Amino acid sequence: MLTQNVALGSRSYDVLIGHNILDQLVGVLKNLNAEQRSVTIITEDTVANLYLEKIKSLLESTDYQVNILILPAGESTKSLENYERCMHFCLQHNVERNHALIALGGGVIGDLTGFVAATLRRGCRFIQVPTTLLAQVDSSVGGKTAINCQYGKNLIGAFYQPSAVLIDVNFLGTLSKRVYRSGYAEVIKYGLLGDKEFFNYLAQNNDLFLNQDIEFLIKIIAHCVEMKANIVSRDETEKGERALLNLGHTFAHAYEAETGYSDTLHHGEAVALGMLNAAQFSSFQGHLNTNIVDNIENVLFAAGFNLNIIYYISDLNIDNILKHMMQDKKVSNYRLSLILLKDIGHSFIQPDSCIKELREFFTLNN
Ligand SMILES: NC(=O)c1ccc[n+]([C@@H]2O[C@H](COP(=O)([O-])OP(=O)(O)OC[C@H]3O[C@@H](n4cnc5c(N)ncnc54)[C@H](O)[C@@H]3O)[C@@H](O)[C@H]2O)c1
Repeated sequence: MLTQNVALGSRSYDVLIGHNILDQLVGVLKNLNAEQRSVTIITEDTVANLYLEKIKSLLESTDYQVNILILPAGESTKSLENYERCMHFCLQHNVERNHALIALGGGVIGDLTGFVAATLRRGCRFIQVPTTLLAQVDSSVGGKTAINCQYGKNLIGAFYQPSAVLIDVNFLGTLSKRVYRSGYAEVIKYGLLGDKEFFNYLAQNNDLFLNQDIEFLIKIIAHCVEMKANIVSRDETEKGERALLNLGHTFAHAYEAETGYSDTLHHGEAVALGMLNAAQFSSFQGHLNTNIVDNIENVLFAAGFNLNIIYYISDLNIDNILKHMMQDKKVSNYRLSLILLKDIGHSFIQPDSCIKELREFFTLNN
């Protein structure tokens, strides 16, 4: 088992990474509060059917009383209604500030439970037990918590760090191919934004990704978590460097908004398209060599991503895409900042990207 610390002073915590390490959960809980004998799990039905019984018996066999709230699977669960449901459930079960909530699921459950933990009695503890590749390499670490509302995605939220993260790659074995691959877009992102050697390693070992090789998965997850932990330690609330983790995401969110955040286009698929767009736009502006853009495209294609936007959105409307891009959280005073590339592993923030140039770029590329 590997351990990565996220260094944030009094809010520091460990991320445990390994294979078949679920029984470590008991030790993690005891470390947080040796006296506490009650614990609350928030999860969703797909994950509950696969894993809840095992975790519940593990905790009950070590004398924990376990409260369980099972929500429906899917993005729509990150809602105000389910937030209220979680709050009322926790208050009904007398969850106190030093109790621990366990977020058992993918990014949806992690983001929702994190926001519940941030606001329950002004903050109680929570442990992330991420069950998708996306959640293991990205959303479970770093303390961004949020729910969606009618005005958009992740608009109600808080920076609130978990007390521990337990990453067991065993969970990945039951993911659909599509959800597994979607998470891999975020893995490739880490190489692109700041580590050329890691990007080349991924390019050379695509078969290990496709075969879900356990050692490979532990290695790449640990590497992504280490990169994220370092960035978050330096810039917890995204005043600067942390924005690099959004590489490709401004394009991606526009495509997701255009497809109504539906099953038509998964987040990771949008990120793959968005990273390619970011590379192409970097090249369009003269920052990046076209053969590097081709290299990025080849690596994404080999991982199985469909890189033709028309496959997902048959009638792409450039005005709509630009409008969605201007809704990005990084827009300030009507100025759009984009994460672009000078090389693989060398990303930078362009604070005032020109909409006219973006329009030309989209017109040329579609
Ligand atoms: N907080 C952050 O920093 C951050 C970063 C990136 C994304 N996110 C958020 O994460 C969410 C997406 O996360 P996600 O891709 O994990 O989605 P998700 O939680 O909806 O999981 C995807 C699908 O996989 C299923 N699933 C989960 N674990 C499984 C398992 N082990 N076996 C079989 N099926 C399983 C789920 O039921 C669901 O159908 C979005 O809401 C996004 O906004 C947050």
